[in-house]
Amino acid sequence: MKLDFSQLPPREVYRWLVGTILPRPIAWVSTVSAEGRANLAPFSFFQGVSSNPPMLMFVPANTRDGAKKDTLRNIEQVPEFVVNLVPFALAEQMNATAALLPYGESEFERFGIASAPAERVRPARVAAAPVSFECTLHSITRLGEGPLAANVVFGRILLAHVSDGVLDPGGLPDPAKLDLIGRLGGETYTRTTDRFDLKRPDR
Ligand SMILES: Cc1cc2nc3c(=O)[nH]c(=O)nc-3n(C[C@H](O)[C@H](O)[C@H](O)COP(=O)(O)O)c2cc1C
Repeated sequence: MKLDFSQLPPREVYRWLVGTILPRPIAWVSTVSAEGRANLAPFSFFQGVSSNPPMLMFVPANTRDGAKKDTLRNIEQVPEFVVNLVPFALAEQMNATAALLPYGESEFERFGIASAPAERVRPARVAAAPVSFECTLHSITRLGEGPLAANVVFGRILLAHVSDGVLDPGGLPDPAKLDLIGRLGGETYTRTTDRFDLKRPDR
């Protein structure tokens, strides 16, 4: 089978992208509006993209009606955010925060998710997340327009909070202790419980 992406409607493109490019890590992104109202939502079009400078990106797409998601509206008002990583233990709470709430209603409050203050940015972090990255906005690259068009948000990482309980004896993150989840297609997720090592040829 072949798919001509230039002929596919955006919703079909979306289905094929999320059903093939996987597993995807999940950025659980906390933002605030100009009035200081908190928002929390998950995004799996997400990656770390640079070590020098330290940067990551995630993509709040436009809604099916072509509107901006609350996360993007907030970042345009207050150009700061916290990207929290999602372990298996927080999967259900993360999923709850994908609900469409009225603009300005906090998912932290609505779903009883404990927050902790960030140090260098205004949005709070998720207290139980094993890793949280405090970021300032670097840039937004807009791809396309209308329904499902992408707003690629690049953030500069200022500070990471890493829970001591996820470190190995050498002080580095232990993937087993992190127990992060990844998103597959549709409503399916994976756990990072099945791992293997490969020696790099150049080391
Ligand atoms: C695991 C998961 C990953 C998601 N990834 C994305 C994504 O990469 N981009 C996106 O626009 N929406 C994504 N969504 C949907 C948003 O989380 C959802 O539209 C949410 O309501 C947006 O919240 P906001 O309007 O408060 O910003 C994802 C949902 C889930 C559950």
